[in-house]
Amino acid sequence: MNFFLETIKVLLLSIWYNVESFIHLFVPKKKKNIAGEVVLITGAGSGIGRLMAQEFAARGTVLVLWDINQEGMKETARLAKNGGASRVHYYLCDCSDKNEVYRVADQVKREVGDVSILVNNAGIVTGKKFMDAPDSLIEKTMEVNTMAHFWTYKAFLPAMIANNHGHLVSIASSAGLIGVNGLADYCASKFAAVGFAESVGLELLAIGKDGVKTTIVCPYFINTGMFDGCQTKWPRLMPILDPDYVAKKIINAVLTDQVYLLLPKSMYLITAFKNILPMKQGILLGQYLGAFSLMDKFKGRALKQE
Ligand SMILES: NC(=O)c1ccc[n+]([C@@H]2O[C@H](COP(=O)([O-])OP(=O)(O)OC[C@H]3O[C@@H](n4cnc5c(N)ncnc54)[C@H](O)[C@@H]3O)[C@@H](O)[C@H]2O)c1
Repeated sequence: MNFFLETIKVLLLSIWYNVESFIHLFVPKKKKNIAGEVVLITGAGSGIGRLMAQEFAARGTVLVLWDINQEGMKETARLAKNGGASRVHYYLCDCSDKNEVYRVADQVKREVGDVSILVNNAGIVTGKKFMDAPDSLIEKTMEVNTMAHFWTYKAFLPAMIANNHGHLVSIASSAGLIGVNGLADYCASKFAAVGFAESVGLELLAIGKDGVKTTIVCPYFINTGMFDGCQTKWPRLMPILDPDYVAKKIINAVLTDQVYLLLPKSMYLITAFKNILPMKQGILLGQYLGAFSLMDKFKGRALKQE
């Protein structure tokens, strides 16, 4: 195709994609049917993982739950069974350990079958200034929040590619799009998770496997306990999110093959501003939005349990 024709084609398609996107602001997208799909959720023993399990259960899926918290998983399994899951299987699996991921993944394939929806949700936060964070916790954060995604993809993506069918869901964070004072290792792990999921999504498109979808979720603080103590300066603009609301939005994004889900909606604007405004103005706005003191009163889960 010559330059002129190709340019016209790109211009016309660009206009159409924007019109289509505008229409979908008012007309909801068609939702896909996921009954019978095998959904694996890491970190399913509490928080968003548990709530997503309940949402997936209500759609007649087969659920595979992974966590290091056996009691939490049992409770999620009970709720999911009562909530309509066709089957629920749960496995103790420390996602930070590559060999354990591969071993338990093989067990899942033998006992349940191929996973068609993979939700990388397990996550941890150190909550310390970078120079105060012990090396071991920094390494653990990278292993759970990022490296685990590599190993679960390696384990479950081949079957999705072979069938040209599946969905990869990465529960990242708004801290994977914008750096935060006091969250250096967590931000690094979430930026990496976003870059990884986005890149593999493009790799799949490039090889024509467009039946394997990707959804990347970037929420602000959610009221699950993980970031207990943290405060938001302007709750109307940047509210601490309700976990049920987040889980429902994630399921909706999966059902409509939405690639990026940022929560709350103001995150779309803030992320765009970050990339286009002069640095000094960006810092000014960051201070205005309280981004410099978000972690000042962090307690998190560990300290809460003490
Ligand atoms: N809570 C928030 O404010 C917030 C905001 C943005 C993104 N997120 C992300 O959402 C995800 C879920 O967080 P949440 O708020 O539900 O927290 P949570 O602490 O309730 O859930 C995390 C789960 O991961 C499990 N887990 C931890 N280490 C693990 C490991 N090595 N192997 C397997 N499981 C492990 C925990 O046992 C727990 O059940 C995380 O990835 C988190 O980073 C949370």
